[in-house]
Amino acid sequence: MIKPVYVYGSPVLRKVSTEITSDYPNLKELIESMFETMDGSEGVGLAAPQIGLSIRLFVIDTALFGEDHPEVKGFKKVFINPKIIERSEVQNIYNEGCLSIPSLREDVERPESVTIKYFDENFVEHEEFYDGIIARVIQHEYDHLEGILFTDRVSPIRRQLLKSKLNAIVKGKFNVSYKVKIA
Ligand code: CO
Repeated sequence: MIKPVYVYGSPVLRKVSTEITSDYPNLKELIESMFETMDGSEGVGLAAPQIGLSIRLFVIDTALFGEDHPEVKGFKKVFINPKIIERSEVQNIYNEGCLSIPSLREDVERPESVTIKYFDENFVEHEEFYDGIIARVIQHEYDHLEGILFTDRVSPIRRQLLKSKLNAIVKGKFNVSYKVKIA
C-alpha cells in the first residue's frame, strides 16, 4: 500500500528512531509498503520516519540510477537496526535530494565509504562495506533514523539561503506527483 510521505516540518523527521524486534507487527507488509511508496515517488531510498514511523528501518532500490550508475543495477535491500561502524576519512561531494524535501537539491559532503552492520527482512545479521553511490544513499537514509536531514549538512551560508525555500515546504508550497503529509 502506498503511504503518504511526511515532508519537512513533520516532527517525526526530527526524532531519533528506536530499534525493532523480529516480532514487529506486520513487518513484511510494512517493508512491501515502503518499496511501493518509494517506487511510486521515484525515490532510491526511503526511511521509516518518512512514512511517519519512528523505527530503525530503511529500504534502498537503486533501479532509478539505471544508466547513470550501471554498477549498482539491481541493488534492492532492507536495512533493519543498522549501525554504521566505520566511515572513511576520504570524503566526496554529491548533489542530494530527498522525498521529504521536495524540489530542493544541494551538494553534500560525506565519507566516500562506510561499513555497516544491519539485519535484513529475515532478521539475519550482515556486515558489509560500501562505497560510491550506495554508500551515499545508505548515509542519507541512516541520517533519517537519527533525525538528521541532508539540509543540515550543507554549509551555514547555504543553509541560510535555503531557509525561505524550507519555510515554503513547511507551508505546503510545492508540487509533487506523489502523496504527501504536511505537518
Ligand atoms: Co531523504
